[in-house]
Amino acid sequence: MKILGIETSCDETAAAVVEDGTKILSNVVASSAEMQAKFGGVIPEQAARQQVRSVIPVVQEALSSAQSLVPSALDCIAVTVGPGLIGSLLVGVETAKTLSYLWKKPVIPVNHLVAHIYANWISQNLPKFPALALVVSGGHTDLVLMKDHGKIEWIGGTRDDAAGEAFDKSARLLGLPYPGGPSIAAAAANFQPPAPNFQLNLLPRPMIDEDNFDFSFSGLKTAVLRETEKLENRGEKLDKEVRSWNKSNLQTSRLAAETQEAIVDVLVKKTLDAVKKFKPKSLLLAGGVSANSRLREKFQLAINHQSLAIDFRVPDPKLCTDNAAYIASYAFFNNKPAPLDKISANAELTITDSV
Ligand code: KG4
Ligand code: ZN
Repeated sequence: MKILGIETSCDETAAAVVEDGTKILSNVVASSAEMQAKFGGVIPEQAARQQVRSVIPVVQEALSSAQSLVPSALDCIAVTVGPGLIGSLLVGVETAKTLSYLWKKPVIPVNHLVAHIYANWISQNLPKFPALALVVSGGHTDLVLMKDHGKIEWIGGTRDDAAGEAFDKSARLLGLPYPGGPSIAAAAANFQPPAPNFQLNLLPRPMIDEDNFDFSFSGLKTAVLRETEKLENRGEKLDKEVRSWNKSNLQTSRLAAETQEAIVDVLVKKTLDAVKKFKPKSLLLAGGVSANSRLREKFQLAINHQSLAIDFRVPDPKLCTDNAAYIASYAFFNNKPAPLDKISANAELTITDSV
């Protein structure tokens, strides 16, 4: 079964063709990365305008790079209906409906947050149920138990900022470019520890020892701000060329490494607490932040250290950030086409909302 996925929830315009939910035939992502870097974030109105221009060429490229597939060879169209930016979502939803009408193919509406988890199904050997999934994206941080396809129970999530947001906002405070996750990761990789067992423990680990599966990341951003203010109050200035505070020679790379470590520690500890409580067969990471190599590494180290018998999965980094391949994969495993007049964009969907 060949499904065309369309994804336009944030500022990416993405289309992909996936066979039987597991095999990518094409995966095209166009993003306005240059514009994001220039303005330090996504400007909804401009993102939607760019998506109107890109969506048809991106769909055409997805078909032509999938062995020049003709539309009649598709079985259906899957499209993200939410959550996301309303103007952006509408571009994908209206495109999918128009193509459905022209090509006489059914449309499967997709919840973007649940679909992120299906990046783990794009694989030769499939995850097992019950599975525990940590979804960490730019706007959401959720821990869910999946008993089966379509059976999702929310067990915890962030009370304020999402993990990706903590990366993005801290990066801005450190003068690092948007998106903050990859730029903090790159700066952190340049940090040279002054001693072999040097501990990165300057920043707090919010809620790490609380007996629940909730997270809070807004205080972390404030703690990063305090650190930079302390330096400024001592009369130091950030030399933007070498990314170092002039007097103490404290490198931005140290603060980037501290930020990354604090976020990663909380995510790993609380997720593995949930593994111990719910004893799932598979543990699945998903969402843009799961592309972070320190997060992946620390999960694996902790799982080994605690001898947890769990099938631990992280998608290929390219499949963690927004793309349409997991949209199509979700649709294969949750094959529920809807009448066109029942499909509409919904910016506020949560991970447990059915669509
Ligand atoms: O899932 P995603 O691509 O889009 C949303 O649905 O939000 O996630 C985007 C988020 C951004 O906050 C970005 O900074 C973060 O994922 N991100 C990363 C990395 N790559 C992307 N965070 C940490 N490390 C990375 N390598
Ligand atoms: Zn996403």
